[in-house]
Amino acid sequence: MRIVDLIAKKRDGQSLSTDEIRWFITNYTNDTIPDYQVSALLMAILLKGMEREEIVTLTLAMAESGDMLDLSDIVDYAIDKHSSGGVGDKTSLVVLPLVASFNVPIAKMSGRGLGFSGGTLDKLEAIAGFNVNLGESQFRHLAKETGLVLAGQTKSLAPADGKLYALRDVTGTVESLPLIASSIMSKKLAAGANGIVLDVKLGHGAFMKTLDSARELATIMVQIGVDAGRDMVALLSDMNQPLGVAVGNALEVAEAVRTLQGDGPADFHAHCVDVAAYMLQLAGQGDKWADIEETRNEVEVALKSGRGFDRFRQMTEAQSGDVSQLDNLAKLPKADIIETVTATQSGYIREVLADKVGLTSLALGAGRAKKEDSIDFAVGIEVHASVGDKVETGDVLMTVHANSAASLKDAKKLIETGVTYSETQVEPLPLFYGVIEGTDV
Ligand code: URA
Repeated sequence: MRIVDLIAKKRDGQSLSTDEIRWFITNYTNDTIPDYQVSALLMAILLKGMEREEIVTLTLAMAESGDMLDLSDIVDYAIDKHSSGGVGDKTSLVVLPLVASFNVPIAKMSGRGLGFSGGTLDKLEAIAGFNVNLGESQFRHLAKETGLVLAGQTKSLAPADGKLYALRDVTGTVESLPLIASSIMSKKLAAGANGIVLDVKLGHGAFMKTLDSARELATIMVQIGVDAGRDMVALLSDMNQPLGVAVGNALEVAEAVRTLQGDGPADFHAHCVDVAAYMLQLAGQGDKWADIEETRNEVEVALKSGRGFDRFRQMTEAQSGDVSQLDNLAKLPKADIIETVTATQSGYIREVLADKVGLTSLALGAGRAKKEDSIDFAVGIEVHASVGDKVETGDVLMTVHANSAASLKDAKKLIETGVTYSETQVEPLPLFYGVIEGTDV
């Protein structure tokens, strides 16, 4: 086989065969095909698209380019979740211990955040000593012993994706839906999940800006999972404004803990209840938790009882984190300067632009612009205003947590552009825009 023939075939809008796709992934992973030819193929895929069968083959080939984690000796059914990422999205910190509190084991590998704010691993590392760098045997041991473990993904997980993603990043080919879907799903399949709940976000602060594009991406990912024999559901959720109040690593850990104690912001609380209910529904395999409304109620009870918090505390202890910071949130990293941002006019909040809040948090040091950047766990923003709120001039809209006068000044200037007002009433934004089940595709 010659890669130039595959490039020409895709350029002319034809489908690639299973053998061709597998050959391309194997030979790119072992460095036999050069980047410049793969760049051309990626661009042809971006321009001409891929059929469902091609996307599934590509995803499986990428997943199988490294180790395929088999969790069947540890758990009967491995349930996982994936969020396409957003500002203030600390959902995993709440939902995973909550689901584990139903005796549904969670053994999850996560990636690091790049961009607006930290990823789940970065948030956990805001807790002193928390170790996310577990070897496979330690990961398995904790999963078996405790039923809840969260670790960084190993280098051997879908290595083809690592290479392809880096190349896409510098060749203008990130935005292809088949390539995004196969990239995300290859890691989920390799990480051993039987059932996956996808939280696909849309809006100003999300990868997908519109409902149509988010639905299309979610549908492709659900199709991949179903065709690969997994149980799937995708939730389409709002990311026009930040989720919850806290944006920034230690601030988000504190908010997650409060939510696990039944005292979280209403939108974030409701979001977590839904994601947890869908995870339980898949894990129940039709025997348990089949009725989503009843399951939501059970999750509410679990939240109020604090048993999710107990699981979070146990996980922190098992992974060497300082639980005293969870028992006393004031002990988490704290910024030197804390200042408020107030409303510049009276009226209704029309927008709290999640992307602007995210960029502000990045400028404060809470996220990474480049892989090598380090994160300041203490800094961030608390967003007290939501779309639809009625405000008076001078009302507090946000609190900025900064570690330097210069970053505070920049943050305040940037954040002011993130809020717009209306003289007339504004409808609050929905939390969810729809659900795509495995049976829908
Ligand atoms: N996240 C991924 O893992 N891959 C993509 O292509 C986009 C987002």
